[in-house]
Amino acid sequence: MNILVLGSGGREHALAESLLQGNKVYVYPGNEGLFLNKSLFKTSIKVNHFQNILIFCQQSKIDLVVVGPENLLAEGICDYLQENNINVFGPSKKASLLESSKIFAKELMKEAAIPTADFKIANTYEEAIAIIESNDFTIDDGIVLKADGLAAGKGVVVTYSKDEALKTVYDFMKNESISVKTSRLLIEKCLKGKELSAFALCDGEDFVFLGTACDYKRLKDGDQGPNTGGMGCYTPKSWPGDLVEEKIRAQIIKPVLKSLKDRGTPFIGTLFCGLMIDEQDNVNVIEFNVRFGDPETQTILPLIEGDLSQVFYQASCGNLNEAKDMIKLKDAFSVHLVKSSSGYPSIDGTPMALGNKIVNNLNCNENCRLFYAGVKKTEEDLVNSGGRVLGITALGDSIENARANAYESIKKVTFEGEHFRTDIAKLD
Ligand code: AMP
Ligand code: GLY
Repeated sequence: MNILVLGSGGREHALAESLLQGNKVYVYPGNEGLFLNKSLFKTSIKVNHFQNILIFCQQSKIDLVVVGPENLLAEGICDYLQENNINVFGPSKKASLLESSKIFAKELMKEAAIPTADFKIANTYEEAIAIIESNDFTIDDGIVLKADGLAAGKGVVVTYSKDEALKTVYDFMKNESISVKTSRLLIEKCLKGKELSAFALCDGEDFVFLGTACDYKRLKDGDQGPNTGGMGCYTPKSWPGDLVEEKIRAQIIKPVLKSLKDRGTPFIGTLFCGLMIDEQDNVNVIEFNVRFGDPETQTILPLIEGDLSQVFYQASCGNLNEAKDMIKLKDAFSVHLVKSSSGYPSIDGTPMALGNKIVNNLNCNENCRLFYAGVKKTEEDLVNSGGRVLGITALGDSIENARANAYESIKKVTFEGEHFRTDIAKLD
């Protein structure tokens, strides 16, 4: 097959390499680090426009497009390509509302009786203030305020203070100097427990469960510092166990797929369920994403054996049944560590040369993988272009071994101004 992966981060690097399987894989826009892998190809697309992507697909006889980032999905890239007879593994604009509108997702969950935190919707600033003042939600138990649209991780505030809640409502709904803007606000109860992300590959009706991952959103050790896209991740193979996994399938994934199909907007693509598991093993949905996670993808895909490209292809045609048995998860643990630029996430940081030698130092193999994200090329070298620069995934026969392998490897990949957490997958 000829495959086009859309996106530019570590997630797309991992996706592209996992889709090789004898296929010709293009990445757009990609990054200069992933193109060091000579099996991955640049496209001839010059300007990022749906029509240019379509023309490239037609000219290069692309059999399958795989979409990484949520903004393209919310803008309707899949609808556009499918209307022009290109197979895409990713949801339609309407099905993408599951991520691009938190209120849509909550209303769907309520209708389909999917377990999630109690919530109220404020349609105006005044309604939001009234909900907080009404004490319907006990502030001491925590409340969560969520802007409705995509907000690149900046649209959620969890608070135990009424003053902060009121200020957040003002910031999200009125304050011109804050980047997050929403006309409708979701206000919900704070869930307690441990967070877990679960992934399913879906063909509109049927799905393959792809496993679970725990990520670390805060910048610094001990879950301190600002929220980021994710500073590391691991696969908790022995937790939460089969019973909880069955609940995730039966109480969450199946009803979501049924509900979207019944609405005439079947879900094709990766369903990413952000979950809270409490001490009694009750599972509640925090949020849905309609794509692979970054860095969850870099953590999970190295564990997959088999032909992922066929699974994506058959799912894109609504025939997942044809390919369901073509992949399985290795009997191993996986730990992924991110190295970011010093200023991340507030400023991009100073670009520093990485040096081609880092690739040689690392001795990558199937148990130790390097994925590039925020890098660019100067005439002689690869340089840090800011944000999350690169990540390492290591596998092991225990979480401790995978962790030790990951930290040993990441020390070999150094650049000036680097930052990484030292407590990823350090379990008590
Ligand atoms: P979201 O963008 O909805 O995933 O929210 C970002 C983060 O906020 C989540 O990963 C949780 O850590 C936290 N969060 C969101 N909603 C809740 C909730 N109802 N209870 C507790 N924590 C939450
Ligand atoms: N790591 C979280 C996300 O990709 O949204």
